[in-house]
Amino acid sequence: AMVRHYKFNVVMKNATRLCSTKPIVTINGKFPGPTIYAREEDTVLVKVVNHVKYNVSIHWHGVRQLRTGWADGPAYITQCPIQPGHVYVYNFTLTGQRGTLWWHAHILWLRATVHGAIVILPKLGVPYPFPRPHMEQVIVLSEWWKSDTEAVINQALKSGSAPNVSDAHTINGHSGPIQHCASQGGFKIQVEAGRTYLLRIINAALNEELFFKVAGHKLTVVEVDAVYTKPLKTDTIVIAPGQTTNVLLKANRAAGKYMVAASPFMDSPIAVDNITATAMLHYSSSLGSTITTLASLPAKNATPVATNFVDSLRSLNSKKYPARVPLELDHSLFFTVSLGVNPCATCVNGSRVVAAINNVTFLMPRISLLNAHFFSIGGVFSDDFPAKPPVVYDFTGKKQPANLRTDRGTRVYRLAYNETVQIVLQDTGMITPENHPIHLHGFNFFVVGSGKGNFNAKRDAKKFNLVDPVERNTVSVPSGGWAAIRFRADNPGVWFMHCHLEVHTTWGLKMAFVVDNGKGPNESLLPPPSDLPKC
Ligand code: C2O
Repeated sequence: AMVRHYKFNVVMKNATRLCSTKPIVTINGKFPGPTIYAREEDTVLVKVVNHVKYNVSIHWHGVRQLRTGWADGPAYITQCPIQPGHVYVYNFTLTGQRGTLWWHAHILWLRATVHGAIVILPKLGVPYPFPRPHMEQVIVLSEWWKSDTEAVINQALKSGSAPNVSDAHTINGHSGPIQHCASQGGFKIQVEAGRTYLLRIINAALNEELFFKVAGHKLTVVEVDAVYTKPLKTDTIVIAPGQTTNVLLKANRAAGKYMVAASPFMDSPIAVDNITATAMLHYSSSLGSTITTLASLPAKNATPVATNFVDSLRSLNSKKYPARVPLELDHSLFFTVSLGVNPCATCVNGSRVVAAINNVTFLMPRISLLNAHFFSIGGVFSDDFPAKPPVVYDFTGKKQPANLRTDRGTRVYRLAYNETVQIVLQDTGMITPENHPIHLHGFNFFVVGSGKGNFNAKRDAKKFNLVDPVERNTVSVPSGGWAAIRFRADNPGVWFMHCHLEVHTTWGLKMAFVVDNGKGPNESLLPPPSDLPKC
């Protein structure tokens, strides 16, 4: 194994998209940011130097961080932010993981522009469990606002209502040639007829799940969230913010140009339309050709397309890559994920939209939870996060509950080392049903089931897949439905769980697990590095 050194300078940079220019926060002046390349078992050291006026922290989304929670990155959860002019070296090892992950800022809305890919290759000499591609291409999907994104969210918080949706989506930083005022014609992928390509697709968008497709070509999914899957052939993939999907693309046409496109998937009555981002697949034999095959994407509320795709994903579950699904459960949790309305004296509206898990709107602490946990500092959090919602009602939203208010608190749920956990995540129709891509830090989990409507333990648990369920770090809880996940708490520390729609996180749809140390020599959280930022 090797040690890989990266330097991330956090700097402002002017960027022009959709005919307007604004300064954005970047890593090394790039949007999307630089790709981190490593192999499984390598150690990665990223020196982050903060040259901007904002506090900054970087999260290595999906990296297990076994015993190295200090390097996980969510501000006020595992570290204090890196203040302007300060430096922090993230130091972690890629244990037992290979595939595509990504990194992003984990404070304010900075991840709008501060994000990039992590490509983890298998150990030297270990092949992929699928045909070796001729070439690999990282594809980062994102959103673009003409206004400053911090201004967008700050204004929303002042008013108490929802922030503006983005002005465009982007593929590797460009919205594409189809759009009015598109920047530099869009991203191009050049292919040769007959060859196979591996696309490493990342949804880095702040607030939108996306459909993705390539006109005239089938995609074969081989990995999600850095875990191999059974090959799944499809026209269209659906990918939620936080998720990554590796697909093989066979260039089985002779020539031409084929549109690559991403568009929003929003199964919500309040969904606002947004714009398709496009890129182009060029056959090298026809670079001069003007014939373009357009991609027709599903409608933004095409839930059956999304459900069919998600339900078809399976772990590879081979001898070499077994799916170790926990069969016995130490904790069986039921978490509602919901929006709500609370009074707000300082808001223009007099009330504000909030979000909650089990009706708890999470309040960010003043110092990091991990610090408080490791050094036993009292008064920062309480470990009484509810295992189930305070009241059970018809979660589908056919009838609104009498009270749309939520409780506020910095409450965590405590687990002993190596305990097994099941969480049924239930969307509620409180205010409105909506998709919630729920991300758990520090672990992968198995998605053992999902469905529409209210979860019914008697009926639904019988149908759980405990053999080869897909293993990932972010699950999209269906709008007006539920998803059940299982994991083993084999990583001591404090681990954030939240909706990866940034607006929902801001509104409080987040909580944390504390996993205590085990008794064995390798079952304890390591002490903090000496350069860990202070609050
Ligand atoms: Cu990708 Cu806590 O985030």
